[in-house]
Amino acid sequence: MKGIILSGGSGTRLRPLTKITSKQLLPIYNRPMIFYPLNTLIKAGIKDILIIVGPERAGDYLNLLGSGKEFGVKFTYEIQDQPRGLAEAFIIGESFLDGEDVTLILGDNIFEDDFTEAITSFEKGGRIFAKEVPDPERFGVVEFDDAMKAISVEEKPKQPKSHFALPGLYIYDNRVVQFAKEVLPSERGELEIVDLHQRYLELGELDVRTFTGEWIDAGTFESLFAANRLAQEKLHKNLVI
Ligand code: G1P
Repeated sequence: MKGIILSGGSGTRLRPLTKITSKQLLPIYNRPMIFYPLNTLIKAGIKDILIIVGPERAGDYLNLLGSGKEFGVKFTYEIQDQPRGLAEAFIIGESFLDGEDVTLILGDNIFEDDFTEAITSFEKGGRIFAKEVPDPERFGVVEFDDAMKAISVEEKPKQPKSHFALPGLYIYDNRVVQFAKEVLPSERGELEIVDLHQRYLELGELDVRTFTGEWIDAGTFESLFAANRLAQEKLHKNLVI
């Protein structure tokens, strides 16, 4: 199992905080934001991690994180030169993955839970996660049947079919590289990750699991503030890097 952390984007919603730096390098309590998703991967035993960054800040990431040796892991870097969507991470990462399965995490997603079991027990297909939120229209949304089996997935629907959002943590087998190449750009010109969920759902191979701890997508001022509080109250005790 290899890891990819996607840390591109221009963070326009967080201006002026992101005028001279990348959103995922902003401080969350006592660490730069990206350390939290990195902790999630490293705690789960993933040692080979591709960090995909935008071209402007690539040097900052390299200075901050280096080779990974300091943390007992190996970091590789790639550039996403345009915001062409989350699914592009698997295309950019094709040679890095070299046929292996992958856990993708977004650089602004902060989790309280430990996903070691979900990652180490993964065998085939897709495994993604769901969390009940008050504002599902901001996220990918999954609908479940009475047996909690996923029956539909949609990206930022105006009329969400449930309150279950899909956080930015995705485990896929290596077929995802080919599937990503077959995705067509959406109206906003991006390769949407939801199209990959949809593909595995149609194959009957999408496992969607709920979890109990907190999850924050730190992309707004409010959620950034909440992330600082979560890190200060709970997360900082359990960090490995
Ligand atoms: C992305 C995904 C969305 C997911 C979210 C989690 O949205 O497209 O499905 O729920 O991350 O943070 P973005 O935050 O890039 O708009």
